[in-house]
Amino acid sequence: MSGFKKRPLMSTFGLELTGIDLSKPIADEDFNAVRQNFSDAGILLFRGQGHISPADQVNFSQRFGPLEEHVLTQFLLPGYPEIFVVSNIIEGGKHIGAHGGSKEYHSDLAYLEKPSLGSVFRCLECPESSGETSFVSMAAAYDALPKKLQGIFDELDAVYDYAWSYDRRMAKIRGPLSEAQRAKTPPIVHPAVRAHPETGRKSLFLSDIWVRHFVGMSEDDSQALLAEAMEVAKRPDAEYKHSWRPGDIVMWDNRSTMHRACPFDEKNTRRLMHRTTIKGDRPLRAATKH
Ligand code: SIN
Repeated sequence: MSGFKKRPLMSTFGLELTGIDLSKPIADEDFNAVRQNFSDAGILLFRGQGHISPADQVNFSQRFGPLEEHVLTQFLLPGYPEIFVVSNIIEGGKHIGAHGGSKEYHSDLAYLEKPSLGSVFRCLECPESSGETSFVSMAAAYDALPKKLQGIFDELDAVYDYAWSYDRRMAKIRGPLSEAQRAKTPPIVHPAVRAHPETGRKSLFLSDIWVRHFVGMSEDDSQALLAEAMEVAKRPDAEYKHSWRPGDIVMWDNRSTMHRACPFDEKNTRRLMHRTTIKGDRPLRAATKH
C-alpha cells in the first residue's frame, strides 16, 4: 500500500485522500482501498491534480466501470466523448459546456433506467469565491427521517420523467430536447429507497426536479411527500460545500449522495469543469452482495 492519507470532510460523509497522483497507474491494492473509501464515504476529494490530462481522467474513471456518453451530446469534449463539459464559457458564439443548470440537488442520470454509479468532476477554471458544489448524503438523510416516514418511503416507487422536467425548467435556457434525446429518456420507475450494492446501506433515492409522482399517488400528494423528504436531506448543517481550486477532483457516489452547483457571476467570470460519469446498475431495494 502506497500509504495515502484520509481527512474527513463532514462527520457523516466525505473524505479527502492525499498522497495519490491520479495521472499515474494505481496498484490494484491501492485502487481497491480507494473504491472502498468511495463507497463508504460517498465523496472523495483529491487536490493538486492540475497536471492530469483528459485521457488520465478517463483512465482513472474507467477503473470504476464503463463510462457514459451524456445525452446532451453537444457538450461532450471534442475527441473525448466520455467527458461532459460543464461551463459558462462561450467560444465562437456557442456555449462549450452545459450551463445555467444543475443548481438544484440531484444525482446524475437518476432519470435513466440504469442511473450513474458515480461521477468524477475536475476543476480546470473557477471563480475565486463562488461557484462551489454542495453535497448531501442521502444515506444520512434516510437515517435522519422519522421511523414512520422511513417505512413509507421503503415501500414507494418513484416515477422519474426527464423530458417533463426539462421542458419546464431547462428548455428556455439550453434549447429544446431533440426527438432522439426524448426517445432516450422515457419515464422510468425507481424505488424511493435503494440499498448500496457494495455496503448494503440504505439511502433515499429521490429527486425534486425529476420525480413527477410516486406510483399510485397523485402528483399533488407526491410532491408534498417528496418535499418532506427533501427538507430533511437538504438541512443546511448536513451540506458539504466544496470551494473549488483549479486542479481539484471530487468524485461522488450517485447511489448515496446528491449535489448541486452554487451560483456565480456567469457573465463576468469563467468556470470550466470536466465530468466523467460512470455507468451504474438498476437501483435495488435490497442489496444482493455486501
Ligand atoms: C453536475 O451537476 O454534475 C455539476 C455540478 C456543478 O457544476 O457544480
